[in-house]
Amino acid sequence: MTSPTTPAEAVRTSTIAEQALRRRTFAVISHPDAGKSTLTEALALYASAITDAGVTHGKSSRHGTVSDWMGMERERGISISSAALQLEYRGTVLNLVDTPGHADFSEDTYRVLAAVDCAVMLIDAAKGFEPQTVKLLEVCKQRGLPIVTVINKWDRPGLDALELIDQIGERTEMVPVPLTWPVGTAGHFEGLLDVRADVSLALESVGGGALPAIETVVEQADLRPDSSAVWDAAHEELGLVRSSNGEFDAAEFTAARQTPVLFAAAARNFGVRQLVDMLVEVGPPPSPRVAANGVRRPVEADFSGFVFKVQAGQNTAHRDHIAYLRICSGVFERGMVITNARTGRPFATKYAHRVLGREREALEQAWPGDVVGLVNATSLRVGDSLYQEEAVTFPEIPHFSPELFVAVRAKDPGRYKQFRRGIEQLDHEGVIQVLRSELRGDQSPVLAAVGQLQFEVAEQRMRTEFNAPVSLESLSYTLARRVTTTAPASTLPETFRGGEILRRSDGEHIAVFGDRWKLGHFTEANPQVSLEVIGAG
Ligand code: G4P
Repeated sequence: MTSPTTPAEAVRTSTIAEQALRRRTFAVISHPDAGKSTLTEALALYASAITDAGVTHGKSSRHGTVSDWMGMERERGISISSAALQLEYRGTVLNLVDTPGHADFSEDTYRVLAAVDCAVMLIDAAKGFEPQTVKLLEVCKQRGLPIVTVINKWDRPGLDALELIDQIGERTEMVPVPLTWPVGTAGHFEGLLDVRADVSLALESVGGGALPAIETVVEQADLRPDSSAVWDAAHEELGLVRSSNGEFDAAEFTAARQTPVLFAAAARNFGVRQLVDMLVEVGPPPSPRVAANGVRRPVEADFSGFVFKVQAGQNTAHRDHIAYLRICSGVFERGMVITNARTGRPFATKYAHRVLGREREALEQAWPGDVVGLVNATSLRVGDSLYQEEAVTFPEIPHFSPELFVAVRAKDPGRYKQFRRGIEQLDHEGVIQVLRSELRGDQSPVLAAVGQLQFEVAEQRMRTEFNAPVSLESLSYTLARRVTTTAPASTLPETFRGGEILRRSDGEHIAVFGDRWKLGHFTEANPQVSLEVIGAG
């Protein structure tokens, strides 16, 4: 970026820098049932939801902040959409990008992590690290994302606090530094030691969690002898951890070498204020994004962003496509014409929205860190970079290693044209990965996914949107590897015992296997074929 040449330009860049500085864009990563929805609702109690430019809603309802908009979503009570919830707290804008939160994982869950500057890892105090948390943690680590750890449900019996700290250290390979420490064992949550504020707080739930918790500063001297033992024990444990793990250091946190740890009971709003305060005070704001050519694009540069999710089919009557864009630099103004770096084509942003659950509203302006929903964006794909003046291409969002595979076929062979168009569209949008081979032909490609839900969405959209009902046949593969051999593709075996080699639409060859042993046999029998783990696999 060139330096500002006029006073007006100087004002523009300093406004963008200021706006970027007051934004925190993050996602909550957790295993289903750890309390993500409850925490989201609790956050919305402290911070107000922003509904249109600059105007905030009252801190009213605890419920209803979590998005649910597809019929399937409502029926099954799961959240498929990755809308962003925008909250304002103490002059800071919090963009909470929703990660679909069901056992039915999807690639969207991973992709959201490309669009945030920090992750809040929510752990159930009784369960510790669960499989989905571990998978998401892995992706965060590959991206070098700073992670705040929140141990939830401390009001219920659970593991020992020191044991949890050890687990966090081992699993994250980061140094856990407590910012709060619970007073009372899990199940007896009496209060918190707030390290940053250097106070001891007694906590009291109000209206069954309908209102923020009451916090009362506790002076050790005022405690009755019977309760002072609990507080002493908490001080002692915290002292132990602080002396072995050191103090919180913002730079170490941003570099993902330290993970600050907070204890909470989201259902009672215990420890939630401390979380939102720490996000505001030490959470990372948007920083210059490194483009694919290695050049860092400052947040004050002219507008740029990338699409991290495309959603379609919420409203079959309107053939609705929404592309979610994370802004990396500059100011976004509705109506501006931006360029798609992949196609070189202009894109008019007349229908820019802030999307919250099923609600949508026109959005006039947005800043680095914000998420914008572009409606009717049929030409946009996941990973597309968009810019206003100075061209930029951001790095691709990686493919994730699929674990589920089905062969797909048109139920009605007469609708083959619609079938082909639909499958191509779903592939472009990144709803599922499409893998093909000579042997299987175009009539029956393989769909690959990280979660069953992706197939259900694909099946539903093929039926309702492309008018080409499909049948899906499960394949007994569970593992995929990218073929990195430079030898001509014709020399690769197409099938072998317990697996086959397929071609992804970006031209990469992907070998799929029934299990680790089949993979082992294959590598032994085919030493000339080199394989590589895919993305976050
Ligand atoms: P998720 O989005 O991560 O899947 O979890 P969700 O918030 O839906 O919470 C899962 C369950 O855990 C809910 O109970 C919720 O009330 C409970 N929960 C969340 N946070 C806490 C907490 O801090 N303490 C306690 N004790 N429970 C918590 P449920 O029985 O499934 O639903 P509900 O009837 O309570 O709504």
